[in-house]
Amino acid sequence: MAMSLAQATLFSRTSLFLSRNGLRRFTFCVPSSSSSSSSSDNLCRKKWRQPVASVLELGGVKIAREDVVRDDPTNNVPDIIFSRLGMQLHRRDQHPLGILKNAIFEYFDTSYSNKFDKFDDLCPIVSVKQNFDDVLVPADHVSRSYNDTYYIDSQTVLRCHTSAHQAELLRKEHTHFLVTGDVYRRDSIDSTHYPVFHQMEGVRVFSPDDWEASGIDSTSYAAEDLKKCLEGLARHLFGAVEMRWIDTYFPFTNPSFELEIYFQEKWLEVLGCGVMEQEILKRSGKVNNVAWAFGLGLERLAMVLFDIPDIRLFWSTDERFTSQFSKGQLGVKFKPFSKFPPCYKDISFWISESFTENNLCEIVRGIAGDLAEEVQLIDNFTNKKGMTSHCYRIAYRSMERSLTDEEINELQWNVREQVQSKLNVVLR
Ligand code: DAH
Repeated sequence: MAMSLAQATLFSRTSLFLSRNGLRRFTFCVPSSSSSSSSSDNLCRKKWRQPVASVLELGGVKIAREDVVRDDPTNNVPDIIFSRLGMQLHRRDQHPLGILKNAIFEYFDTSYSNKFDKFDDLCPIVSVKQNFDDVLVPADHVSRSYNDTYYIDSQTVLRCHTSAHQAELLRKEHTHFLVTGDVYRRDSIDSTHYPVFHQMEGVRVFSPDDWEASGIDSTSYAAEDLKKCLEGLARHLFGAVEMRWIDTYFPFTNPSFELEIYFQEKWLEVLGCGVMEQEILKRSGKVNNVAWAFGLGLERLAMVLFDIPDIRLFWSTDERFTSQFSKGQLGVKFKPFSKFPPCYKDISFWISESFTENNLCEIVRGIAGDLAEEVQLIDNFTNKKGMTSHCYRIAYRSMERSLTDEEINELQWNVREQVQSKLNVVLR
């Protein structure tokens, strides 16, 4: 997830899917007790269920808290994540994410005479197969770990990218489509990372008729068309900027690229894309076709376009935030209304083998919610006995009001208690 001060950090983060195994610092064990049937099919196809208190309707499906948050070792979805399900910020025309989504739609509608089908209400509960297998994410890829992804049960996840819908839409014979939606990832806490963010996926399928006349091979044809399309999109959003293409790796595309633009004196990664792996098309019954695909993070771009300094602001219902944006107004600069200072609290402990930073951050978010601004490792050493100590600095800050000492002390006290009881570490 996304900078001015935030920008430096934002830009250095790369996609979870950028390497063959998604090399990250830690992996986490997958719980062994598992249910073999997938609940995503049930959940996302169930058109009706018993009315329950907090049910929400997503993509025509009713979802209750107990469908998503369960006291079961195969489930790692906390309440705070359930509370974000169904908010659909990208479907609000007056919200920066909705304004950006509409501006992208406008580009595609104009450039391709409304040929792209648009989906922005697909259920975020998907099967492991949809999220990973269908887009060829390797079995040992770190993105599949319980440390990185929210599992509802062993076969069902909250989608961690909109690529999860590629295969099903191809099977349904869509050849030009855009999928926008909320995506979920367990992650660190800072101004550019939030466990729920929004992505847009684009796919275009070509037939032999399209490339045969061109005299170039199908892959080069698709790659050229892809680059032209996305350069046009970047100009539509950012104006006449300098751009560059970086070769990269994604499991779902080959060749794969990233587009960067030179904006506000920095190279900014705008999106990932490539020529779709032939295997994905083949499995969807398309043996004579070639396709391109791209994926972009809406917060990342909106933070830059609207000068929004902290990713938590997208969730703010404070009128001083919401009233600054209006339908169709891309790039209006946000004027910060809060300069309340952060309050820092440190916590040190001896870690165990199973310790991960994402698990720590989940505890902090569970207690402090959006008051948690940053969790930063500030000290790390191993003693002669081989015991490793970590010291984290937690920054608490409200975007909307000042916090009292009492309030922060209580939050920190609860964090200490839960860290000790849930993370198998020894406080120092
Ligand atoms: N799914 C990728 C991610 O979340 C983004 C992406 C990259 C999507 C390349 C694509 C693609 O369709 O071709 O990091």
